[in-house]
Amino acid sequence: MNTFSYDKGSLFCDQIPLAELSNEFGTPLYVYSAKRLRENISRFQTAFSALNPLVCYAVKANDNLALLQIFTDQGLGFDVVSGGELHRVQRAGAKPEGVVFAGTGKTNSELKQAVHSGLSKISVESGDELQALNQIAGELGRRPSVLLRLNPDISPDTHQHIITGNAESKFGISPGTAHQLRSHDWPNLDLCGVHIHIGSQIPDQEPTLSALEIALDFLEQCPPEWDTLDLGGGFPVGYSPDSAPTSFTDFAEPIANRLAHFSRPLKLILEPGRSLIADAGGLLLTVQATKETGSRRTVIVDGGMNTLLRPALYDAYHHILPIDEVNEKLFLTDVAGPVCESADYLGRERHLPALERGDSLAVLTTGAYGYSMASHYNAHPLPAEVLVDGDSYRLIRRRETYADLDGRDITTQNRK
Ligand code: LLP
Repeated sequence: MNTFSYDKGSLFCDQIPLAELSNEFGTPLYVYSAKRLRENISRFQTAFSALNPLVCYAVKANDNLALLQIFTDQGLGFDVVSGGELHRVQRAGAKPEGVVFAGTGKTNSELKQAVHSGLSKISVESGDELQALNQIAGELGRRPSVLLRLNPDISPDTHQHIITGNAESKFGISPGTAHQLRSHDWPNLDLCGVHIHIGSQIPDQEPTLSALEIALDFLEQCPPEWDTLDLGGGFPVGYSPDSAPTSFTDFAEPIANRLAHFSRPLKLILEPGRSLIADAGGLLLTVQATKETGSRRTVIVDGGMNTLLRPALYDAYHHILPIDEVNEKLFLTDVAGPVCESADYLGRERHLPALERGDSLAVLTTGAYGYSMASHYNAHPLPAEVLVDGDSYRLIRRRETYADLDGRDITTQNRK
């Protein structure tokens, strides 16, 4: 059974009716299935088990501490891209040896934080960063393990905003420059491998396999101590309701075959984000108004691009279902948020029943890059989050209040 499915006319998350959650906690409300999360993690681990990788969940997809604890409990490490994310995984009980730190613009204080934490690998994305890290490591008397993030100049067939591996992109270092950098002396660094991540929601294996070739070609020219290959994340999920779960085996098998033919064994790191958590999450919203707008209806709900940015930013499709199944006539309907922006739509031209103020909707496959990209725009407090685990559920982040909106502002008069 799907994680979000109807039973006798009511939409459930596993064994919990969503109406019960929206009544108790209000909307907008993010709801996650612990069951689905554990299943995804376990399918991923099984698919790649022959390669014995360090699997580092990409925290940017969703950094709720209760969810991070599930990843820790299931034996995963973490991929972080900021000091804040490093702080969050430490709070969730992550072991430093399971954490890798990437990111294009690490500050000195983030580099210090990373070196100090003793995490597994720092993935360096520029010559400037390498120099700064070498100096900081020297000052702290540490010798961190470093990967060079290669830019393999490959553009997968995905939205242009989430391609990271083409030559013009800000991410990574070209193989030529990386060879120059590695030939310098870095007395305080242990350079031990390469990292590639060419984008997100990559539809098939081909671009990853092409990037893998470039990484292996680079490693072939490095000394044997360069024994680590971080292949990043990017595994796709289906956003339409009839999509099958991602077949991780389709990615794992050709990668394993290729690595088996490499001249030496490599330690593999993988950084899946979306593919582990997207389909474990749904977003509950309440209709505030309905109107006839030209050739269609528009329903306005209580969370828009402030709550789920993906449709506005990437034209992303998220399936939208009424919480109460209605087998009546369907109408061509746009679903819009409350924010004062014309891009503030969660779905266009959907077939939905006649909805009224007070009805609830669920926006599906919103576990990844949903809450983590939400904002306070138009001074909307951030939503609450609930975790469903079988036949029980609990609040895992409280809804913000107006006090949270005011909390950091300083309103005292300037002193002369
Ligand atoms: N590793 C690195 C270095 C990354 O930059 C990312 C994602 C990942 C791993 C995880 O990628 P995933 O497995 O989740 O595809 N906000 C966009 C996605 C941005 C992804 C950024 N980097 C979206 O909502 O589609």
